[in-house]
Amino acid sequence: MTKDKVLIFDTTLRDGEQSPGATMTHAEKLEIAELLDDMGVDIIEAGFPIASEGDFNAVSEIAKRAKRATICGLARANYKDIDRCWDAVKHAASPRIHTFIGTSPLHRAIPNLDMDQMAERIHDTVTHARNLCDNVQWSPMDATRTEWDYLCRVVEIAIKAGATTINIPDTVGYTAPAESADLIKRLIATVPGADDVIFATHCHNDLGMATANSLAAVIGGARQIECTINGLGERAGNTALEEVVMALKIRGDIMPYETGIDTRKIMNISRRVATVSGFAVQFNKAIVGKNAFAHESGIHQDGMLKNAETFEIMRPEDVGLSGTSLPLGKHSGRAALRAKLAALGFDLADNQLNDVFVRFKDLADRKKEVFDDDLMALVYQNESGE
Ligand code: KIV
Ligand code: ZN
Repeated sequence: MTKDKVLIFDTTLRDGEQSPGATMTHAEKLEIAELLDDMGVDIIEAGFPIASEGDFNAVSEIAKRAKRATICGLARANYKDIDRCWDAVKHAASPRIHTFIGTSPLHRAIPNLDMDQMAERIHDTVTHARNLCDNVQWSPMDATRTEWDYLCRVVEIAIKAGATTINIPDTVGYTAPAESADLIKRLIATVPGADDVIFATHCHNDLGMATANSLAAVIGGARQIECTINGLGERAGNTALEEVVMALKIRGDIMPYETGIDTRKIMNISRRVATVSGFAVQFNKAIVGKNAFAHESGIHQDGMLKNAETFEIMRPEDVGLSGTSLPLGKHSGRAALRAKLAALGFDLADNQLNDVFVRFKDLADRKKEVFDDDLMALVYQNESGE
């Protein structure tokens, strides 16, 4: 079956860095951009060039160094932002300007523009961006709380003014999956010229639905997902790159779309982003959490030792891990203990294993995890009859 391609637009260095406390240094940004480029991200949103001298320099340098990815910068809906953005991204072999304005009633009130004035601003700024760059993305911020008729109107204006990608942000993580799919589907069916552009989805995770909403948007017709490594981003974060990419890989049976991501590079970049941003990954985070491929309970460990598919729907190697981990704790059983001891070079007779197992359970009741050194000590104690 030929699969439609879904473009991966990574905004770790822009929306991700907007997380309070996640600021990265210039060198760290260059390193992350190189890893993103190398793993096959299609578009890297490298920063917000007008925001600071540092952001401008980082975007310019990333643009100069990128080997494969399109390099994008963010700009508000004014000429000064757009010019500054272009000055930074123009060094890339494939540059993109991403300009946006808040279109919902709450957001229209901020610059105090009425609907017509805002429509005119969108027309003028997208036209200006397109005169500089032939790859222009436009976003109606807070699209999911914008009136339907007005959303159609401004999307049409942006397309006519030359936008090549229309991004539909769920800025405050308000939408739900069925609605997300429906919104994109209806926009594509309704807005003149929609077939000539790519629709993108940009979801935030305030209700924990960012990944589901992004995938639903793809089912509705979006062909670009905006996301960040580890789901880094404002408040509860953005859609996590590793989640949407692995969901599309594993559930190709119901979502026949492909990405260009080399998934084996996921774990390394996840760890680097956690380190440089200072945002540790929660243990039970999908795909990249410490426990995502770990099994402690006896039933699960026994199953895993017999057939890894019993409790794993993806191979740890496919996300860059060397294998499954079977940490030993109080829920673990004899099979995992025997396997662990064998890996440590101990081949115990059944009665010896039984003795060590009793000591192991006793220790595990007092300790969260029993490590290799603990086990070796238990075996030696057993041998010396202590
Ligand atoms: O969440 C949002 O609406 C954004 C826009 C700037 C695209 O990040
Ligand atoms: Zn955002």
